[in-house]
Amino acid sequence: MAEFSLPKNSRIKQGRTWPKPEGAERVTEFRVYRWNPDDGENPSVDTYYVDREHCGPMILDGLIYIKNTIDSSLTFRRSCREGICGSCSMNINGANTLACTMGMDEAGGDSIAVYPLPHMAVIKDLVPDLSTFYAQHALIEPYLKTETPPPEREWTQSPEDREKLDGLYECILCACCTTSCPSYWWNGDKYLGPAALLQAYRWMIDSRDEGMGERLDTLEDPFRLYRCHTIMNCANVCPKGLNPAKAIAKIKNLMLERRM
Ligand code: SF4
Ligand code: SF4
Ligand code: FES
Repeated sequence: MAEFSLPKNSRIKQGRTWPKPEGAERVTEFRVYRWNPDDGENPSVDTYYVDREHCGPMILDGLIYIKNTIDSSLTFRRSCREGICGSCSMNINGANTLACTMGMDEAGGDSIAVYPLPHMAVIKDLVPDLSTFYAQHALIEPYLKTETPPPEREWTQSPEDREKLDGLYECILCACCTTSCPSYWWNGDKYLGPAALLQAYRWMIDSRDEGMGERLDTLEDPFRLYRCHTIMNCANVCPKGLNPAKAIAKIKNLMLERRM
């Protein structure tokens, strides 16, 4: 089993090591970030042992096992357990991903480090404060904007136009990409980040939307769009296999076309 030690200058303390479940023959070690805003202590990393014979195979199963059988104070978000809601995003062995779709074996076998999404304020344990992230999503107006009177039944779309939304509509707003983006780390209050920008492009190219001009105006700003430096962390971590960097490049092209 890998030896775990925190860096010497870390303000995160080595926390409690909980006993191995009695009689467990096959265990996986979980080293989990803990921080409680109410106890005045610095963050710590607690060590737990998950009995693999009595637990499902995913990281989220392990966290639920810990909460149900070892330490009920452990706090994390989850809902669908199917990679659909985006709630269980966290940093697992150094990479942002969804705890419900990452298997314990896939994550590295015997010893797994679980931290909240990086560079966000933490509310408690594995729960980051996503208020700014959601405000940035709201800013791009993630809904159909139209000027022509609504049709009697519904706005229709050809199969070809619908296909243009593939690779965009699947975004579950998990924030894995945005919190892995160095440009967002340094300018998260001004740069909108890959998730919000992918969503912005999704609405720009929807054949039913008539708000392209306004949408581009919203992004015409030195920070909101142009802080993307094509580092590609976003595309590398997206658990849905999307490519926000490509969407951002397409928005930049639309900006250029508008100026010509
Ligand atoms: S683009 Fe991918 S990583 Fe980013 S929020 Fe959407 S689903 Fe999550
Ligand atoms: S490509 Fe752009 S949005 Fe994606 S991680 Fe790099 S700087 Fe951030
Ligand atoms: S619990 Fe919904 S995506 Fe993981």
